[in-house]
Amino acid sequence: MPVNICQQLNNANDLDKASYVSSLLSQMTLKEKIGQMSQFNNDDDNLERSIKMGNVGSVINEVNIDTINKLQSIATQESRLGIPLLIGRDVIHGFNVIFPIPLGQAAAWSTELVETCAKIAAIESSNNGINWTFAPMIDISRDPRWGRIAESLGEDPYLCSALGVAMVKGFQGKNLSDNTSIAACAKHFAGYGASESGRDYNTTNIPENELRNVYLPPFKAVADAGVSTFMASFSDLNGVPVTGNSWLLNDILRDEWSYNGLVVSDWESIPQLVTHGFCEDEKFAAFEACHAGIDMEMASKTYAVNLPLLIQESKISIKQIDTMVSRLLALKFDLGLFKNSFTDPNNREEHLNNAHLSIAKEAASKSCVLLKNNNQILPLCKTKISSMAVIGPLADDGYEQLGTWVFDANIDSSIACLQAIKNYVGDLVDVNYAKGLNTSRSNNQEGFKEATKIALTADVAVMIVGEEAILSGEAHCRSSINLPGCQEQLIDAIYKTGTPIVLVIMAGRPITLEKVLPNVDAVLFAWHPGTMGGPAITELLFGEACPSGKLPVTFPRNVGQIPLYYGQKNTGRPASDATFVDINSIEVRAPQTSLGMTSTHLDTHFSPLFPFGFGLSYTQFEYTNINVNMHSVSMGESVEISATLCNIGKIDAEEIVQLYIRDLVGSVTRPVKELKGFQRIYLSAGQSKNVVFNVHTDELAFYNRQMKLNTEPGLFNAWIGSNSATELKVGFGVILASE
Ligand code: BGC
Repeated sequence: MPVNICQQLNNANDLDKASYVSSLLSQMTLKEKIGQMSQFNNDDDNLERSIKMGNVGSVINEVNIDTINKLQSIATQESRLGIPLLIGRDVIHGFNVIFPIPLGQAAAWSTELVETCAKIAAIESSNNGINWTFAPMIDISRDPRWGRIAESLGEDPYLCSALGVAMVKGFQGKNLSDNTSIAACAKHFAGYGASESGRDYNTTNIPENELRNVYLPPFKAVADAGVSTFMASFSDLNGVPVTGNSWLLNDILRDEWSYNGLVVSDWESIPQLVTHGFCEDEKFAAFEACHAGIDMEMASKTYAVNLPLLIQESKISIKQIDTMVSRLLALKFDLGLFKNSFTDPNNREEHLNNAHLSIAKEAASKSCVLLKNNNQILPLCKTKISSMAVIGPLADDGYEQLGTWVFDANIDSSIACLQAIKNYVGDLVDVNYAKGLNTSRSNNQEGFKEATKIALTADVAVMIVGEEAILSGEAHCRSSINLPGCQEQLIDAIYKTGTPIVLVIMAGRPITLEKVLPNVDAVLFAWHPGTMGGPAITELLFGEACPSGKLPVTFPRNVGQIPLYYGQKNTGRPASDATFVDINSIEVRAPQTSLGMTSTHLDTHFSPLFPFGFGLSYTQFEYTNINVNMHSVSMGESVEISATLCNIGKIDAEEIVQLYIRDLVGSVTRPVKELKGFQRIYLSAGQSKNVVFNVHTDELAFYNRQMKLNTEPGLFNAWIGSNSATELKVGFGVILASE
């Protein structure tokens, strides 16, 4: 068999990346180059033949290890060049072992944990032959109607950046060529989370200043941290769909940020440029996408069909194509695929191994947020109760607790709450179960009778409600974000029995809980917690673990408040309790005035139901003594902001300490609060600690009217506390170095 080009280069021994890529490129035909720019879905009828012909650079959605090895072998041994394939898959929050949905992981506010979860997902998926994931999704999400908020890391640029970087590190490891590392993909660049009315794929209109200050920072952070690939968003950004948006992809990503990794389109988003009404046909769509710098087309074949002609007509140059193909080859080189693209099926780590499951339990535990705990009903004590009713459509469902994007999950190993509770209490507590409703969106109340019957005789009712997995995620948006179906009525029915209710909510988004809150004694918000959701929740309910999660996104009272986020602008007429006017206090035929004259709704309070960063514990934490080490910090230096944290309760526990600042006057208005630091601190009961944050003046920078990143001198406030509504405040100034 003749030795192919890659084999020759491999034999040439230790060529560095640049030489390898350029030697390979110099021997490629135009068709082979365009082939590298094409990603095929695994169900393509001509897949194997196309790979052999050199028409495929990547395959998406194939997870069978034998098939992957076969495809790699066709690519490396039967094609003229022998270039291996990128094998892409959406490994979003775990592969076989499922961790909490990303929004849930964000609630743990732990970069270490997020990195570990991603590392495990990388190990499990790379063991299967996958070398590229389409994560992290770092779209700032401020609209809980949007189903993809589940995949996001929440509303805040600082938290999202820190956790996004951690995820990239977890997936990519220290070295991409390690056989347990996979390439990460920062998506969806950019602004996708601002879809109008929270409807997926919808238009986004984001002023450049807002784009730069809010939506782009997480992408810049992961670009700086070395993320291998970016995915362009489906969405229309200010009139120019991102897939054809040269300003965003070339001027900002390539020129301003010097990003040199691969940019992939989203699924069929190049031909969708025609649907957007941005291009008259697919040829023009290929032209626009190529000029915008989309290196690889996902799923559709617009490039394969149209690029040859566009080059022939000199509308696209070979130089452009070479630059793009070089990026693709460079990634394959970094992944070590030219040396070895075979995955040894006998060398795979044991899937679902105990270490992975124990991290999944820790992640689920740390991501749960305790929203209410009246009279310290939680933790329950198995020796103090004799009977309990477990009620709800999600109580005994290992599948639904996994959440969105779990194609490769081992569903059978997912342990639901009912099972875990029974295992934990053993014979000590009589556990009765009633589903109440067949599914989370069911309106058939036939099951209420059984549910109220078991609640009547129980010491406590643990209700496990929320959203099934399919009610959030891509294209699964909701116009109401109440508990779906008749779940509110089910809670009401149980409330009427007089038995105390502990509500556990599993959902892919914030849920509006204003109506149900008064009727329940405790609320534990568990997101979709993943494989080990049941055991983690059980340990929290019974005090074997203490809740420590904090909301990574604001919980509105009702959908009409959206968008509602803590980092809002002050406005010229900010809302306040002093001026708040309730709809019922207005006299009939009252003459027109600017009632209250502040930025509020008449029919709902202006505050959220739960603010960003909120989460209770079984202990109480007290914050005192906020301090700055200097009242004026010179530009280019750091200020130290500190406070005393004391665990004044009776339980050892972890607290997520949060630092917020406000730049009081800016050349463009600044948010009323901005997260600038957080620390997870463990304190035993009675213990206290001085918690210190160092903030460099560079970290106070924002994009000004000229779209330049700049720190402006002036006065700042800083708060340290347990959530974004904290009031413990200190002031400091930033002065020019010469002042
Ligand atoms: C989604 C991407 C995903 C891709 C591949 C698209 O519909 O928007 O986030 O990575 O499909 O599955």
